[in-house]
Amino acid sequence: MMIPQLSNTSVCMKDPDRVRDILVSMQKAGSNTLQVISDFDMTLTRFAFNGKRCPTCHNILDNSRLISDECKLQLKELLNTYYPIEIDCSRSVEEKLPLMVEWWTKAHELLIEQKIKKDALALVVRESDARLRDGYKFFFDHLHEHSIPLLIFSAGIGDVLEEVIRQAGVFHSNVNVFSNYMDFDELGVLQAFKGELIHIYNKREGALLNTGHFRELRARPNVLLLGDSLGDLNMADGVQDMENILKVGFLNDKVEERRQTYLDSYDIVLIKDETLDVPNAIIRFLTGQQ
Ligand code: TMP
Ligand code: MG
Repeated sequence: MMIPQLSNTSVCMKDPDRVRDILVSMQKAGSNTLQVISDFDMTLTRFAFNGKRCPTCHNILDNSRLISDECKLQLKELLNTYYPIEIDCSRSVEEKLPLMVEWWTKAHELLIEQKIKKDALALVVRESDARLRDGYKFFFDHLHEHSIPLLIFSAGIGDVLEEVIRQAGVFHSNVNVFSNYMDFDELGVLQAFKGELIHIYNKREGALLNTGHFRELRARPNVLLLGDSLGDLNMADGVQDMENILKVGFLNDKVEERRQTYLDSYDIVLIKDETLDVPNAIIRFLTGQQ
């Protein structure tokens, strides 16, 4: 393989020849035709660290001092109810979709009741256990140096994820974010969430609402997509005149049950890999550096 990291033990591919063909064709087209579209939670951030689960954007708030103990219990109950459904591969997307809408809606209602202050977010993120995957600095910096647009497409919370990447020093000018943004009143207190809700299974609709963004990137028909859930596969549905897409999926949890489904859906599956080593090696290859 022209990318040695594709032989890492965490890497699984159903069709390595196809992966090679896509990579060759994307490299030939040049990095000025490339755009990267990535999920945030559990894709750019770690799933676990030292045996402990790492927080999603929502969990960063849930675990913080901005939330009352009673509300924490309620949010935990929601997580215990709906997360097993999110990762249950014996249920269809059609069956899961209304339940996911229910999860997001209930969680956002609870957060709004807590009167969260905008100016407390930075501290809460700083005090949290949020952790970008190892190699994040190269990932963000290299894309920026090569002027490759990075779209972070997240069903998490935009204000929180922006703060995570800002504090890590990697919120560069080539980064765009589609996510759920908080709406604060004139006193800076959370009163609602803006726009259409983005949950784990409507990223297609989210993409199609943002045609302006994809129109601007029309000259970049080659896409590197990074995700960790099957809903992330639709993040590139708004891309215009797509030529090649390489889909890289992190399989973090329930590995044995979900392995085949992931292999059938993602070109490259990274099993219990907490690093960005493979995406970084791909980016290095596509920008002509070995
Ligand atoms: P994403 O990674 O596709 O952007 O999805 C966001 C993740 O957030 C998804 O894995 C479920 C998780 N989540 C929570 O941890 N707590 C919540 O309250 C909600 C609504 C979602
Ligand atoms: Mg995710």
